[in-house]
Amino acid sequence: MRVLGIETSCDETGVAVLDLTAEGPRLLANLVASQTDVHAAYRGVVPELASRMHEVTLPPLLDRALADAGCTAGGLDLVAVTQGPGLVGALLVGLNFAKALAYASGIPVVPVHHLEGHLWANWLGPPPPDAPFVTLLVSGGHTELWYSTGPLAHRRLGRTRDDAAGEAFDKIATLLGLGYPGGPAMSRAAEGAPHRTLDFPRPMLHDPSLDFSFSGLKTAVLYHVRGDRPNEPTVPPPESVDEIAANVQTAIVDVLVAKARRALKLTGARVLCGAGGVMANAELRARLADECDAEVLVPPRDLCVDNGAMIAAAGAARFAAGVRGDLTLNAHPALPLPDPIEGVPCALVP
Ligand code: KG4
Ligand code: ZN
Repeated sequence: MRVLGIETSCDETGVAVLDLTAEGPRLLANLVASQTDVHAAYRGVVPELASRMHEVTLPPLLDRALADAGCTAGGLDLVAVTQGPGLVGALLVGLNFAKALAYASGIPVVPVHHLEGHLWANWLGPPPPDAPFVTLLVSGGHTELWYSTGPLAHRRLGRTRDDAAGEAFDKIATLLGLGYPGGPAMSRAAEGAPHRTLDFPRPMLHDPSLDFSFSGLKTAVLYHVRGDRPNEPTVPPPESVDEIAANVQTAIVDVLVAKARRALKLTGARVLCGAGGVMANAELRARLADECDAEVLVPPRDLCVDNGAMIAAAGAARFAAGVRGDLTLNAHPALPLPDPIEGVPCALVP
């Protein structure tokens, strides 16, 4: 069974062809066209530009993906597409492209929740997670903890009350002059620089809930960089930007690891899945593996950031569970987490 995955929720256009074989899923093509260069001038994603870029990029990217996969549109069995959450214009471009393709090819289309898609990146490299498991979902717009009783049955345990972890990386990188996108720039700067030398806040670390908050950290770094510290003269900080980046990264990772550990303890789950772009961060990956008393599964780094393969995987699973879309499918910028579907096996087979 060949599944086409289409992802256009933000500033990456993703097209992938996933083949479900009796031996397991095989990724035949996975192309991501990043719009970073276009948005970098504005230090953030400009929604209208994102939509227009998706529109221009999708047709040739599909052609290349099909060529990589060695098949034609007629050889596809299913189209999976991100329905939300995300930028409404960007989502609409991908959704309409997917519906047109499915209609013209006479194959079904299935809508995918972008965050559940991130989780399904874990099914693209062995071993797939066994339920029950806890998921730490850390993307540019979301920071959440879920408890899953099956691969399509998630309940949210906690979420950020303001900025997401990725947003904190991006905004703090901007104020440190590290450029856009901020997460990769911060982790590059942090490499080899001294950690735990500056006293940045760990927001909500000791709060008993599983919620997060990162906007206070951003403000603390802003004051620090401005030299605006209580009872001290207003002077620029003596440390290098790299040292500040390393300390910020460690502050964010401290909170993420502590809350993931708490979620595992509260639920009794023995498996932790990582998902989302921030999971590409080396310190986070290493410390979750070292400090969580659980089997820690994280996707390969290139599958942590937005891509079509994760959408194909999640779409295939939802299709197998009976979920169907039709030509009335609409984009949903604030799509809620789907209702749990229980009793679905963890293996991804045709
Ligand atoms: O999941 P994703 O690709 O897109 C969304 O759905 O938002 O996540 C993008 C986020 C951005 O905030 C980006 O700065 C962050 O992931 N990110 C990282 C790293 N790579 C990407 N954050 C920290 N360290 C990284 N290596
Ligand atoms: Zn994402």
